[in-house]
Amino acid sequence: MAKDWNPSSWRAKAIEQVPAYPDANALAETEKRIATFPPLVFAGEARKLKRALAEVAEGRSFLLQGGDCAESFAEHGADNIRDFFRAFLQMAVVLTFGASSPVVKVGRIAGQFAKPRSSGVETKGDVTLPSYRGDIVNGIEFDAASRIPNPERQEMAYRQSAATLNLLRAFAQGGYANLDNVHQWMLGFVSGSPQAERYGQLADRISETMNFMRAIGINSETHPALRETDFFTSHEALLLGYEEAMTRVDSTTGEWYATSGHMIWIGDRTRQLENAHVEYCRGIKNPLGLKCGPSLKADDLIRLIDVLNPQNEAGRLTLITRFGHDKVEEYLPRLIRAVEREGRKVVWSCDPMHGNTITVNDYKTRPFDRILGEVQSFFDVHRAEGTHAGGIHIEMTGKDVTECTGGARPVLAEDLSDRYHTHCDPRLNANQALELSFLVAERIKKEAEAH
Ligand code: PEP
Ligand code: CO
Repeated sequence: MAKDWNPSSWRAKAIEQVPAYPDANALAETEKRIATFPPLVFAGEARKLKRALAEVAEGRSFLLQGGDCAESFAEHGADNIRDFFRAFLQMAVVLTFGASSPVVKVGRIAGQFAKPRSSGVETKGDVTLPSYRGDIVNGIEFDAASRIPNPERQEMAYRQSAATLNLLRAFAQGGYANLDNVHQWMLGFVSGSPQAERYGQLADRISETMNFMRAIGINSETHPALRETDFFTSHEALLLGYEEAMTRVDSTTGEWYATSGHMIWIGDRTRQLENAHVEYCRGIKNPLGLKCGPSLKADDLIRLIDVLNPQNEAGRLTLITRFGHDKVEEYLPRLIRAVEREGRKVVWSCDPMHGNTITVNDYKTRPFDRILGEVQSFFDVHRAEGTHAGGIHIEMTGKDVTECTGGARPVLAEDLSDRYHTHCDPRLNANQALELSFLVAERIKKEAEAH
């Protein structure tokens, strides 16, 4: 077990991004209650994910991580979850085929509620209020009452996470994730795309492969793997009181696990070595993510790895780099070289979203070309360094929103106001997300051929 650690040892440390709850007693009461609730995930599942991620670290698998920037209470419908899962599975199939290797599927879902903010306050006209910090903390409406952090929201977030996870488990294991379904959906996407010819080549090869498999008797009746899939959940472990309440001892190993999700990550704003978020995460055994932005120095990264993965266990730590499309070449090589020099086993994953946010017509948006550009540079750098470009981490939805510009069926600047629904950062819509997966699949294939 981690030395001098317990689920509340983070409380003695400096901390960033803490909501100012007006009633400390009410907060403590809620946390105490949540600590008695059933776990959302089991330690054994977290270990399974860690083993799958170890395969990514060793260069034998690819990681697809994605979902909402922020889940919301208002959008908690079955349709939303289904549409997300459907888009996500199609991406995974396309990537699996492109990479000719397993794809580890991790959603930003069933717990992705707390948001770090660049400023503690938001001003509109002459009114200044506390910033919105995610539905688990306060309300997005710009009025004083909504913005007061309310501990009861933690219980609502817990219950929504449980319901979401329940449906996801049913989808993943109950036949909905059947490869035949996913294949049909994907063909629907391709035939409707202005890039049908380009994506059709890969899609045709998938179809041929499936026909061949059927011909030799491999189908979802005979092979459960074709009708079920492993799907894992993840979120940023930002609201540590909630995370502490969901931290439990695994009875089979005696180790501590975060049971709020399978994988949790530390955000780019809360990764200070001596601070609370690193302290909390070092003591739990789940696979961890660490967001790495331009301000992260190579030496500091190695110190963080020392603390977060002292046993150098493959699959424990995923470095999620997010520099911006024009900064990858400058910042990523240093980090890779330091990690290689020190012989650390990590998964390298690319978040092409958070370094590419711009404002257009008063909307925060992300141009598709820059998102793709960051992924391409990520692959370029890993090829030059001889390391495995292990995955992508994206903000996406299954709905046809207009939040990121560009794509084959382009969202234009003037379209942004049509269906701009995100509670936080702009997400790829279903078509943009799938398109990205086709382009990434092409790239992975190219890498394999170059090898
Ligand atoms: C996020 O993933 O939504 C986020 C806030 O990212 P980062 O910590 O990389 O800024
Ligand atoms: Co975000």
